[in-house]
Amino acid sequence: MNGHKIYVTRRIPDQGLDLLRTVADVEVNPDDAPLDRATLLAKAAECDGVLGLLTDRIDAEFFDAAPRLKGYANYAVGFDNIDVAEATRRKVPVSNTPGVLTHATAECAWALLFAVARRVAETDRVMRSGAWTGWGPLQFLGSGVTGKTLGIVGAGRIGTAFALMSRGFGMKVLYTSSSNRRNAVLDKELGAELVPFETMLERADYVSIHTPLTPQTRHLFDAAAFARMKSTAYLVNTARGPVIKEDDLVQALQSGEIAGAGLDVYENEPAMAPGLAERDNAVILPHVGSATTATREDMSTLAARNLMAMLDGRRPETCLNPELFDSRA
Ligand code: DGY
Repeated sequence: MNGHKIYVTRRIPDQGLDLLRTVADVEVNPDDAPLDRATLLAKAAECDGVLGLLTDRIDAEFFDAAPRLKGYANYAVGFDNIDVAEATRRKVPVSNTPGVLTHATAECAWALLFAVARRVAETDRVMRSGAWTGWGPLQFLGSGVTGKTLGIVGAGRIGTAFALMSRGFGMKVLYTSSSNRRNAVLDKELGAELVPFETMLERADYVSIHTPLTPQTRHLFDAAAFARMKSTAYLVNTARGPVIKEDDLVQALQSGEIAGAGLDVYENEPAMAPGLAERDNAVILPHVGSATTATREDMSTLAARNLMAMLDGRRPETCLNPELFDSRA
């Protein structure tokens, strides 16, 4: 133990906590609930390192409150909760957990895609209600996947893994890229096509969102986007809720402008837009994309290793502001 003090803003799997306890005095929020702002700031004031979640806002006010802070480790790959520029300005390294949750999240996107296309959640509700009257040729008709066109918005790690999983279904794969850069893996493995966003909307039977939330992607999917999509198309989102303007989505689902949506994330979590929960053509999950036991354990150890490196003045494995260490070299 070297006298370092660490605060963990919510209970995470023990693997990472055990690691942290080998180098520091570790305090964990005892409640299995998001930490309130005042406690976050008060705890940050006493700590050398904080391991936090996507529900913790890591901004100028947080850094003001944390004069001793040597590093902040996010227990998530998404980092729209962190003002990275502000962290860099203050020379505080910050990290996230990419890689370890790629397959879990991509698999969750497929679970949503199938669930909404084949009406899995809706018909499960019918069975449980006792309303099923027996087999019928016109009942619960959904949409198939084989041979259809799949659109990937944001072909990074998770988007690429998701697209590769389509191999068994012989799908035509389209993808967008904010930097207009080709994805060599998708091009080679799937003969995928890099297309403008609007082209994807017009051609895809299934669109899956894998882009980070940035000022450019906030409300990328709004009424105008839904108007361009096929009325038979489905939208899946396992990335960040605000990429979709949720009120517009509810409208599009209600009017039949698109066929359905599979959602794991929401614009104002844990709330949902009015009307969304009433839509049978929406499958709604409580932000569980990375929620497998092994993945959450891997996130725990990666976030812990990152924080331990930062406390040591070393560059964490998955650093969001690596330039801080380049300039120290
Ligand atoms: C992330 O990592 O960004 C997910 O939303 C939670 O695992």
